[in-house]
Amino acid sequence: MTEKAAGLSAERVAYLEELVSQARTAAAVFTQCQQEDVDRIVRAMVLAGQEQAQHLARLAIEETKLGVLEDKFIKNMVATEFVYNYVKDKRTVGTIREFPESGLIELAEPIGVIFSLIPITNPTSTVLFKCIMAIKTRNAVIFSPHPNAWRCCQEAVRIMYETAVKHGAPEGVFACLESHTLEDNAYLMRHKDIGLIDATGGPGAVKAAYSSGKPALGVGPGNTPVYLEKSADLNMAVVDIIISKTFDNGTICASEQTVVIDDEIYDAVVKKFSDLGAHVCNEQETELLGRMVIDPTTGFMQPMAVGQKATDIARFVGLSVKPSTKLLIAPIQGVGRGYPLSVEKLFPVLSICRARSVDEALKVCIDVNHAGGLGHTAVIFSRNDEIIRKFGEVINAGRIIVNSPGSIGALGGVYNDMVPTFSFGCGTGGGNSTTDNVNVYHYLNIKRLARRTQPHMWFRIPNQIYFNQNAVQNVYNFPSRSTIIVTSPPLEQIGHVDIVRRYLPPQTLVHVSVIPDTEPELKTVLEGVEALNFYKADQIIALGGGSVIDAAKMMKLKYESPEADFEELGAPFLDLRKRVVEYPTEKANRARLIAISTTSGTGSEVTPFAVLFDKAGGRKVTLADYSLSPDVAIVDPQFVMSMPKGLTADTGIDCLTHALEAGVSSYASPYTDSNAMQAIRLVFKYLPIAYEHPQDEEARNMMHNAACIAAIAFSNASVGVNHALAHAFGARFGVAHGRANALMLPHVIAYNAAVPAKFMPSPNQPGYVAHHKYAMVADLLGLGGHTVEEKVKNLVGAVEQLLDQLGIPRSIAALGISKDEFDRAMPDLVKIAFDDPSWLSNPRMPLVSELEELFRNAYQGRGLAKVASASQQRIS
Ligand SMILES: [Fe+2]
Repeated sequence: MTEKAAGLSAERVAYLEELVSQARTAAAVFTQCQQEDVDRIVRAMVLAGQEQAQHLARLAIEETKLGVLEDKFIKNMVATEFVYNYVKDKRTVGTIREFPESGLIELAEPIGVIFSLIPITNPTSTVLFKCIMAIKTRNAVIFSPHPNAWRCCQEAVRIMYETAVKHGAPEGVFACLESHTLEDNAYLMRHKDIGLIDATGGPGAVKAAYSSGKPALGVGPGNTPVYLEKSADLNMAVVDIIISKTFDNGTICASEQTVVIDDEIYDAVVKKFSDLGAHVCNEQETELLGRMVIDPTTGFMQPMAVGQKATDIARFVGLSVKPSTKLLIAPIQGVGRGYPLSVEKLFPVLSICRARSVDEALKVCIDVNHAGGLGHTAVIFSRNDEIIRKFGEVINAGRIIVNSPGSIGALGGVYNDMVPTFSFGCGTGGGNSTTDNVNVYHYLNIKRLARRTQPHMWFRIPNQIYFNQNAVQNVYNFPSRSTIIVTSPPLEQIGHVDIVRRYLPPQTLVHVSVIPDTEPELKTVLEGVEALNFYKADQIIALGGGSVIDAAKMMKLKYESPEADFEELGAPFLDLRKRVVEYPTEKANRARLIAISTTSGTGSEVTPFAVLFDKAGGRKVTLADYSLSPDVAIVDPQFVMSMPKGLTADTGIDCLTHALEAGVSSYASPYTDSNAMQAIRLVFKYLPIAYEHPQDEEARNMMHNAACIAAIAFSNASVGVNHALAHAFGARFGVAHGRANALMLPHVIAYNAAVPAKFMPSPNQPGYVAHHKYAMVADLLGLGGHTVEEKVKNLVGAVEQLLDQLGIPRSIAALGISKDEFDRAMPDLVKIAFDDPSWLSNPRMPLVSELEELFRNAYQGRGLAKVASASQQRIS
């Protein structure tokens, strides 16, 4: 016993408990049945139901005194034959659907015991329908029919039960309450062994079901509006409405309630109704009808009218009509309490209303919809597809029936391809959990087995990269009428611009835009765009370091797409493929971007990134999109021969950091690995030489290539936490980017090689591999070591040795930054580093506390000590 048995005797409780116990046992046994078993049983039940369709219809009429025998028979046939037609090939056991392309499998799990309420209006058909659904889904059902439909329901359950058990269903799979009270229902609705309440019935029953705290399928009341639009086939429309509204004397809650008719066809429609056997009431008759069949206190229909014939209702009300009258038609002037007949009427009384425009017609239909029919059914007759769609948009109904009868149309499978049902979900508007035609899938817990999928990766780079000494000559191959060379003051002064100019085709008009050699600001970019517009440029040559090339990328973006909003395009994102903002594809102008790098570090000549410095806001906006990548990259070492030693060291370590971070990134792939590894090898071999012997052409060339190759890797695999730390630290203390990276690098390698406190979700990488990747680097560099741990340690040692060779300070303290000053900056540093998107592709997720620890390690310069501690938590 799960609830206090209010108002129930001990005997009654024992009876109800026995019903539940049998159903629970049956449901447990039923789980062993296979698809073939349930399909065989269902087929036998359907045939038995059809065999007894007339018998059950007769019983229903005799007992309920509602509806029409012939129509009850049709309903029983639809509930068996049409429902079978829908369910027969559906899989409802084990794997029911597979989606190989997405790695998803849906598996069916029965609910167990369902408690089902059956209405008086469609008693036997609803029982047949629910029995078939239950067996198809391996559930047991306890039925609670309306008290005035108990005998016919009991008989329908008996027929279904005996047939099911005879063909292999477990005993106890169906039960029907012998008689019931609201207390019985309340007790069962709250019973712990009832898995689902399926309440087809009046608003009280549905509300009780939803209030029970159990999962429930409830269906709401209807008040079906019909829009009879002037383009409709009037003959078809009027006949369909009569068929539908008189079907089983209007007991189906989807049947038409108020027909809104366009003014132009109103009189013709009324005449047609009259010609085909409807009695059209005059004003007095309408008033009388409204007073008699609608309860003036509640505003709801009088129960004694439900399911009665039109002539019987007329006689009861005192209207004089022909004996052949099928339908009573009541013209009304509006909707709401002042117009009693505008509500649901489950009998053959139909309201009609004149509309002088489409808008007015839609408004009246919406009003009817809101007057007790939200989420249920609506009907439109029209040949105008635009109006049909508009009707569908503005009416809140689970079923919008077009050019067909509402009641039989809503049942599904007869006039349309909707799912056959005897239970109409009305969505939240009707206080229900679904808008569907309730079907077998509502009787199942559908489990989803989702296989791991491998996201599609990519490898994108500019389609033309020219490298080696004098590669700049290739600018000759790109015809241009008007070219702007974007560069910085020192490069113009030392003659680099002249070298480029020399190789441009002679007919090219060339202009030079000299911009500050600092991180680009919006003002700089906009001035550049102004120049591009003025000269109607069709080619931009960016000659410089990362800042100059970044500025040129943004100039091109804004020149080609003036509406581009840097602020919006710089919005943060987690996955490039799924981010919200889209870069513009519409181009007002077109210009080729040729990037010639004059430093060997950022690799901006091939990356899809550009950083805008917002001086006023004191922050950076990072733009990232492959449309920013230069069209042509030129990696010509002649432009880096004069780099000072410090710049050579800093940019070289930036390049190494790019390659190491791309190598262990959660977006790393064999494509990026090949570039990252090669770049690392080149840096270790050539950076010391380029640093010690600046005029060594081979070393300069190889370092220039290394920077570009590392950039190709991180353009596709991104960077990591090292860059997040370096960005925050470098900005705060005015330390060059490469140097800031260098101060963090040994600590970050040790950090990433240890067991993460928090793993980063990473569909691209199976398991945690960062330490193995570092070991691979150590092997590539021939650093020795027998274990992964030793190899990582050797790599950190090699990095530290390289930093020493390059004269790079080994701690932040060594830069002269006091401990106090650093401590004061720490909260900001941590916050800014955490806000930096660079770490999103780091192999381990940095905790805020770990960012602080990394900063502190970098302050003190404790790289090797950290590796030793990491080794204590070795992972394999
Ligand atoms: Fe960098």
